[in-house]
Amino acid sequence: MTDFDGRVVLITGGTSGMGLATARLLLENGAHVVITGRSEERLARAAEELDGGARLLTVRADSASLADLDRLVALIRDHHGRLDGVFANAGVGVFQRGSEATEQDFDHLVDVNFKGVFFTIQKALPLLEAAGGGSVVINASWTLHRGMAVAPVYAATKAAVHNLARTLGSDFAERGIRVNSISPGYIVTEMFEAAVPDPASHEAIRSQVPLKRLGRAEDIAETVAFLLSRRSSYITAQDIVVDGGLVTAIPAS
Ligand SMILES: NC(=O)c1ccc[n+]([C@@H]2O[C@H](COP(=O)([O-])OP(=O)(O)OC[C@H]3O[C@@H](n4cnc5c(N)ncnc54)[C@H](OP(=O)(O)O)[C@@H]3O)[C@@H](O)[C@H]2O)c1
Repeated sequence: MTDFDGRVVLITGGTSGMGLATARLLLENGAHVVITGRSEERLARAAEELDGGARLLTVRADSASLADLDRLVALIRDHHGRLDGVFANAGVGVFQRGSEATEQDFDHLVDVNFKGVFFTIQKALPLLEAAGGGSVVINASWTLHRGMAVAPVYAATKAAVHNLARTLGSDFAERGIRVNSISPGYIVTEMFEAAVPDPASHEAIRSQVPLKRLGRAEDIAETVAFLLSRRSSYITAQDIVVDGGLVTAIPAS
């Protein structure tokens, strides 16, 4: 996969999980990568782990803050002058029943998962145009395809950003910019471990998945790299579900 030689990709939320795994894969394949996160400490740890040298730029930026996004884009403009790809991945999970969701939880989920994704893409647009076009991948979720009792607000934010892939995919097509979303299933990351701390529950979840394993961040990185690459040049305004069959199939036993 030499497709990324010299290309510049922004990954929001690159300090752990799927964002970190995608950064690793793209760096291995020649990309210049910019990762964001909310804490300098976690960014420094990710930078050490990735060991990307001059091809890795870390920027502290809260996706829910438009001022931070402006600063992020200005830094990328100064550093690279262009962007070939964006993985709008930063997201938070607050999982509780509809009767329990507070206004604070609601606002936090919407601010990071929906508003943050929309404005990340909007603000990256001039840099994608400066590259003559590019590819945007939004991290949505399987919960936009199948109802989950403890995720009413979270799932709605993910349905909203999948819808952005459709509308912005149409809007930006004439500028040579493709926009797609991915819907990961259960992927073992910090978010998953926080939501499902009990190992016995992992087994119960695994049994719902036809491929009989939980997903790995690397499973998602491979799909994101494909969508960011020119190998997917005729795919836009789509959602790709990467879930071991969770949403559409019942396990054999
Ligand atoms: N794990 C799953 O089963 C699953 C399934 C479907 C979809 N997803 C989605 O996948 C995405 C990545 O999550 P993950 O599972 O890889 O979990 P993770 O390891 O917890 O990663 C979340 C990332 O988002 C960053 N982040 C959170 N809030 C942010 C903010 N306001 N501004 C900037 N960065 C922020 C975190 O960075 P800092 O904490 O360092 O700021 C971290 O790098 C999320 O959008 C999530 O909704 C997860």
